[in-house]
Amino acid sequence: MSINYSERIPNNVDLANDRTLQRALEHWQPRFLDWWHEMGPHDFESADVYLRTAVGVDAQGWASYGAVKMPDYRWGIFLADALADRTIGFGDYYGQPVWQQVPGELRSQFRRIIVTQGDTEPASVEQQHLLGHTCPSLYDLRNLFQVNVEEGRHLWAMVYLLHAYFGRDGREEAEELLARHSGDVDKPRILSTFNEPVEDWLSFFMFTYFTDRDGKYQLKSLAESAFDPLSRTCRFMLTEEAHHMFVGETGVGRVVKRALEVMKELGTDDPAAVRRQGAIDLPTIQRYLNFWFTSSLDLFGSEVSSNAASSFANGIKGRPDEGQYEDHICREATFDLSTPKGTDTVSLRNAMNEVMRESYIKDCEIGVKRWNMQIQRAGYDLRLSLPHHRFRRGIGAWANLPVDPQGRLIDRGEYDRLLSGWLPSEADKAFVRSLMQQAKAPGKIAGWIAPPDRGINNLPVDYEYVRLA
Ligand SMILES: [Fe+2]
Ligand SMILES: [Fe+2]
Repeated sequence: MSINYSERIPNNVDLANDRTLQRALEHWQPRFLDWWHEMGPHDFESADVYLRTAVGVDAQGWASYGAVKMPDYRWGIFLADALADRTIGFGDYYGQPVWQQVPGELRSQFRRIIVTQGDTEPASVEQQHLLGHTCPSLYDLRNLFQVNVEEGRHLWAMVYLLHAYFGRDGREEAEELLARHSGDVDKPRILSTFNEPVEDWLSFFMFTYFTDRDGKYQLKSLAESAFDPLSRTCRFMLTEEAHHMFVGETGVGRVVKRALEVMKELGTDDPAAVRRQGAIDLPTIQRYLNFWFTSSLDLFGSEVSSNAASSFANGIKGRPDEGQYEDHICREATFDLSTPKGTDTVSLRNAMNEVMRESYIKDCEIGVKRWNMQIQRAGYDLRLSLPHHRFRRGIGAWANLPVDPQGRLIDRGEYDRLLSGWLPSEADKAFVRSLMQQAKAPGKIAGWIAPPDRGINNLPVDYEYVRLA
């Protein structure tokens, strides 16, 4: 197949004149499409979907809207504009000019980080493979597909870096990104959250709120990288990522809103009564939140990490918004870490994962506050909350310890007894699944979720965002 590059693959990396890159992509692109057919949104290949496609990096180019069949989506390759005279913003090489090539001695570290990021992108598409069948509205269906095609493009973004800067190793890694699959027993995705099933839309909204936000923080830290093409790629990805978290925040907000409407109608906050009316009660929403938030916390890794220290020292990965800090070298600085044995003072460089996790948690609080404002305005004392970061950890100093959602170490037996009440039970999941019925007429919204406040790109909410074939 010969490809008209600028038409088929919108890009700002001069693909039309780069034979090496073309050859690598010619080999990879058909495999990507095979993967999309098999693992992408199930059953909607002939539907016309109102999607935005990035065709440039400026304000007009990055969000061009129109009806597209998803297999024809133009997955492009974009780097944010280069910043003139950019210098390295942290670590041992602070102040030196940024790199346009990967230094030989840092190759495998850079490759591993790009592969790990790249692996999450197709993983989430696989996790959301069947959700289209149970969409609560065409508006939501379109948002799901928008997220899916953009995660596909994020995979392209990482594959571009592997192809363009890592030679044969990079090409092999690019193949592997299509060979591992979410939840696969033999070849799972690299990070555990990306192997968790996303079987209902409440999970989808929690995933886009909490897990895509981990993506945001990873991208922010890579946007600081001394390797300029990586930095520019991630900066552009962040513009797309914002929409995914919008889908999560407004999605959960609409589920909360519907619960409040039903509570008001019935004059009670009794979960069983709310459920009988076909809405999702707030305690169930809290349990879903607990699951996805804690799972996402582990994605930042151990509190103390020599890998994180070396990534920072070598200019590979900075702190999100590195510019806000005063000390960008952090050679002498220390960090006080709370561990089960007491406070441990460690080198700040070794604690970079924890620094990132802390800023992530602060960002997560913002949406929770908004959801709670709704609950408060409706006149209820109930509140949603983020569980403590020590709760249900699988990685780090607090891994597998009996910690309650308030962060207290409790008796193991008590923990085992209470844990099922803090997480979605099989009955919760079965109930939420029972509500998942496809609403496919324009403007129709499922009964368990409130309609969105506005449509996409100034179109009305009842616009036919997906024309089913
Ligand atoms: Fe992504
Ligand atoms: Fe995302």
